[in-house]
Amino acid sequence: MRLLGRDFAWGVATSAYQIEGAVDVDGRGPSIWDTFARQPGRTVNGESGAVACDHYRRWADDVAMIAGLGLDAYRFSIAWPRVQPQGRGAFNVKGLDFYDRLVDGLLERGIAPHATLYHWDLPQALQDLGGWGNRDTAFHFATYADAIARRLGDRLASLATHNEPWCTAVLGHEIGKFAPGDREPQLAAQVSHHLLLSHGLAMSAMRASGAACPLGIVLNQSGTTPATDSAADRAAAATEYARFVRWYMDPLFLGRYPVDAGIAHYPEVRDGDMALIQAPLDFLGVNFYTRIWVSRDRPERPAPMALGQTDMGWEVYPDGLRELLVGLKDQYRDLPPIFITENGMANADTLADGRVADQARIDYVRRHLEALAQAKAAGVDVRGYFYWSLMDNYEWDSGYAKRFGLVHVDYATQQRTLKDSAHWYRDTIAAVRHEGARADQADASDQAVPGDRVGGASAATAAPAAATGGMTPAEAHHG
Ligand code: FCB
Repeated sequence: MRLLGRDFAWGVATSAYQIEGAVDVDGRGPSIWDTFARQPGRTVNGESGAVACDHYRRWADDVAMIAGLGLDAYRFSIAWPRVQPQGRGAFNVKGLDFYDRLVDGLLERGIAPHATLYHWDLPQALQDLGGWGNRDTAFHFATYADAIARRLGDRLASLATHNEPWCTAVLGHEIGKFAPGDREPQLAAQVSHHLLLSHGLAMSAMRASGAACPLGIVLNQSGTTPATDSAADRAAAATEYARFVRWYMDPLFLGRYPVDAGIAHYPEVRDGDMALIQAPLDFLGVNFYTRIWVSRDRPERPAPMALGQTDMGWEVYPDGLRELLVGLKDQYRDLPPIFITENGMANADTLADGRVADQARIDYVRRHLEALAQAKAAGVDVRGYFYWSLMDNYEWDSGYAKRFGLVHVDYATQQRTLKDSAHWYRDTIAAVRHEGARADQADASDQAVPGDRVGGASAATAAPAAATGGMTPAEAHHG
């Protein structure tokens, strides 16, 4: 894992609705998840993020906890309805102040703040006007994005527009598993385009106003594996890859939608949309959890699950991370630096005598980091890794039933307890840094000329570079 290098950002990730709670405090407006969770049968036990991890009040302790883990980066999302309650018009000073304090609190502890603008909590007021099905929402998003970039951009290590637009489009509008809960494929396709358009408009607005931090987007991605070598399975796997990965990557990097995605209704695209969407990114965030297994036989052939499955029922397939990243490098020229912005597992954790023994999670992370090091050795420019999630939290339609955290949360008391995996992650990062420093020292003394010893040693013992993954704003703008 030393191969990941010293200038590599080690982090954890969360999102606003999943941890903050305080949904009706300090002027926050309602979001589509508040509405959705109230509808009978939408979420496990009708649970919502109304309280979640109470992070809105406990943020300072949570930042201290992140620092205690020895991490150098933290990815969080900004709740649009907290900072602009109606999604357009007036901004909410108290909401903006909250993120200001959070960012400053992180920086004071040497933790680089990586923010995401949209992690699924659309202001309900915009949903009432048609939500992401309404093209106007893309323009409102750009206004919101630009306001945040102006306010926080000078201190952020990165700013992503969207988290996993596939989930918003497909799970939210085609399958109805996520808010707003629609089941209309044609609407979902149009939503996917409006999400990408909103990304492009936001990028253009933030660039125009001179955003000081690297800008990008976060996509959930998985390779697809045909269950057999049959022509039917192979074709189905290719189609699924086009729908899941290429539907977003092709517009962003090639300026067009794939024609072989088996989509019945293509979205309405207006002149100029694709040029906006295709504007250069400073980084690409990749969220990876599992692979997609594709079988056309009936009954379907099950995935091998050689390394088991998580509490979500997702296959543990670490090599898929290497396969995916190396594939992307081959399929798209001029990829920007990549961050693994999410990777992790839900586990049926139990707290006993103050301890959570989650060896399965340790194995999961270790194997994925090994796969990541292999991808890097194969030439993939990966700059950081964020475990999902810092702590157990509100897992959307699964409510509080699924525990992804390195830190256990007792929702009755809000007590946080570091799981074994948290201790392991902290120790592993420290060991990787230490090894890296020793290797640098060895390199430096190899190259040292007499009299240059001091310089070599001090370079080797210098604090790790700020955890931007080594991305500078200059490089950020693609030279
Ligand atoms: C991702 C989401 C994140 C969390 C994890 C388990 O798709 O971005 O909020 O739910 O899955």
